[in-house]
Amino acid sequence: MATTKKTTFSSTLGVIMAAVGSAVGLGNIWRFPYICGKYGGGAFLIVYLCFVFFLGATLMISEFVIGRRSQHTPVKAFQSLHSKKAWGFIGLLGLITSFFILSQYLVLSGWTTDYIWESVVGNLSALGTDAGAISNHFAQFSTDGLRPVIALVVFSAICLIVIMCGVQKGIENVSKVLMPLLVLLVLVLCVRSLTLPGAGKGLEYLFSPDFSKLTGEGVLAALGQALFSLSVGMGVMIVYGSYMPLNDNVFKTAMWITACDTLIAILAGVAIFPAVFSCGLDPAGGPGLVFCVLPNVFNSMGGAGVVFSTMFFLLLAVAAMTSAISLLEALTASLLEHAKVSRHLSAILFFLLTSAFGILFSLSIGPLSHITIGSAHLTLFDFVDKLNSIYLPPICSLFTIIFFGWVMPEADVQDELSNHGAVKIGYYGVFRFLARYLAPLALLIVLIAGIMG
Ligand code: PHE
Repeated sequence: MATTKKTTFSSTLGVIMAAVGSAVGLGNIWRFPYICGKYGGGAFLIVYLCFVFFLGATLMISEFVIGRRSQHTPVKAFQSLHSKKAWGFIGLLGLITSFFILSQYLVLSGWTTDYIWESVVGNLSALGTDAGAISNHFAQFSTDGLRPVIALVVFSAICLIVIMCGVQKGIENVSKVLMPLLVLLVLVLCVRSLTLPGAGKGLEYLFSPDFSKLTGEGVLAALGQALFSLSVGMGVMIVYGSYMPLNDNVFKTAMWITACDTLIAILAGVAIFPAVFSCGLDPAGGPGLVFCVLPNVFNSMGGAGVVFSTMFFLLLAVAAMTSAISLLEALTASLLEHAKVSRHLSAILFFLLTSAFGILFSLSIGPLSHITIGSAHLTLFDFVDKLNSIYLPPICSLFTIIFFGWVMPEADVQDELSNHGAVKIGYYGVFRFLARYLAPLALLIVLIAGIMG
């Protein structure tokens, strides 16, 4: 009841599916392609690949090791791996980060959920290729008090049901269905996009290396994206690590997850940009790309556009759902371990709390936009966005890697990575160097640059 002990995924495949589900999210589909194009295409990609495989994967491995070694959720995980209980603060920080990321994520996920519906019933196709009308439609929707909130609650409730079904029956089974579906959707959209006239220009934007666009800001964006995309720095991978089968090869599993996450981000770019360029539209970033530019692209495809737009918003919702599920699970499992409550009660509690905050953030875009914070007059949504992108994840990642590289006994690390000596860890020297020196340094730089910028 009050313990998460011995809850595990059933197999390596189950771990990979669930963790890829967490990693592949809105960040892959609407953020990666955009920043890749913006900061020099192929040039950005090279830097991103280095960051994601050397630093992101290092953090993921460290979180997996911390989770599986301790068999605990974040707070207890850090406490149990060192004699000083105070280290538990890193876990707490991770959970706070998860809480705020989930609350904000629910808003965006609600939008995608609403757009599936609007696509199916023909509201989007009715807007035709009038860019102004499409943008207005989105502006009206996102600032409407009620509709985004309903969509948010629907999305959040589905996540709740999955979590209530448990780790294997809920998260693992759902990921095993949704992840292949996601790959299928993205591949179909890639084929459609690539076969449109003038698709080459989109590929050029995405891939041809332009080192003059790779600014310092671009390098920082690459690192931030690498961490966010792999879902590290918020305790989620610690929780999933604690569910990992004990004979699983942590290093290999992390590499698979990293590779899948990266591949899907690249495929998302291939699905989006050739189509955008083929219509002669400007690639925009973030929600603008997804909710204002892409409907125009779909509407210019004629009758089949409805099918592709529905597929695209479904793809987004699926990606967002498995990510949101991982965040809700991290919170649910943690409370489950610390208090005498059932999984159902814990999940419902966090469903209510994160939805309530999500609703507040959603309203702050519309009816509550007059409430602002600080001298910059940020709305609540913009404030939490800043917190979630600049401060919390890098701070938490930094503490995690310092704990892993400098505080946790090295013998424990080696023992866990090698499955008590059963697997050889030939890469250990490089990994240790990354974990002790390069990763903390890089994180410190991102953090300082973020705060100053
Ligand atoms: N990795 C997810 C994405 O790319 C976001 C996420 C972050 C999910 C942290 C879970 C935990 O969108």
